[in-house]
Amino acid sequence: LTDSYTLANNNEIPVIGFGTWQSANGEEAYNAVKWALEAGYRHLDTAAVYGNETSVGQAIKDSGIDREDLFITTKLWNYQRNSYDDTLHAFSDSLTRLELSYVDLYLIHWPEPIEYRDHWQKLNADSWQAMETIYQDGRAHAIGVSNFRQKHLDELFKTAKVAPMVNQIFLNPGDQEKSIVGYNKAHQILTEAYSPLGTGNLLKNAAIAKIAAKHDRSAAQILIRWNLEHGYLPLPKSTHKEFIQSNADVFDFQLDDEDHLALDQLDGQEKQHTDPHEHNFHKTVAFLD
Ligand code: A2P
Repeated sequence: LTDSYTLANNNEIPVIGFGTWQSANGEEAYNAVKWALEAGYRHLDTAAVYGNETSVGQAIKDSGIDREDLFITTKLWNYQRNSYDDTLHAFSDSLTRLELSYVDLYLIHWPEPIEYRDHWQKLNADSWQAMETIYQDGRAHAIGVSNFRQKHLDELFKTAKVAPMVNQIFLNPGDQEKSIVGYNKAHQILTEAYSPLGTGNLLKNAAIAKIAAKHDRSAAQILIRWNLEHGYLPLPKSTHKEFIQSNADVFDFQLDDEDHLALDQLDGQEKQHTDPHEHNFHKTVAFLD
């Protein structure tokens, strides 16, 4: 858990992050983060739209762990990014909720929000300019994007002065996203994987169960290893203490060629249910209105 990847700006990032998407603000997210920190995770991934930054921040504070030993990511949501200034405000609001003076990574959460469909190019360019300011001020030690496809990154590169260091996408053996992953790599962008367990769906997959039985490991551990062995950064999410612990216990075994071959064949079986362009979280973000 202390192993790290190196970002394009030479910052270190712990190779597994603890995901908090769908962990409810309050006791659920607070306990999950508390258990994750106790289990040794030092990298936490949240977002304004998850609505749980307050609980994540509280759990960080109560842990007593030195801030410089933690890697905290949050993300800019669609409602508060109309302009350069809006983005700066959204970022300050996230810091306030987290009770932090900086984050280690700040991401644009969504490339093509439905309400900005006809001018997403300008939207992203303006937000990115603000992210560059935040980065230069030292309030985010790295900046990046999430759910971006090639056309979104090509467009961003036209105006960006600082290249994104991370692209966080839905990624697991059931949805291997070879095209964007290859693009990220060619541009020195680290690929982070949210839903590395296919939001839990892949845990029931027979091929994965077979590999798990062979190694005497859980299906979740196999899926997390798959990510690591590809050089991606998995962000497994759980609200159960035992799962949180075991999901991090993946550094004393390896998948073999036969396993990789079987896992490669699962591509396409667990596609993200929603097209990233169409997706929106309106119902979950009332607090940001
Ligand atoms: P829960 O949060 O109830 O503990 P993903 O990270 O791909 O989004 O998957 C998250 C889902 O997988 C959650 O529903 C989570 O359940 C479940 N999960 C996480 N780790 C495990 C595990 N080790 N065993 C079984 N289910 C798990």
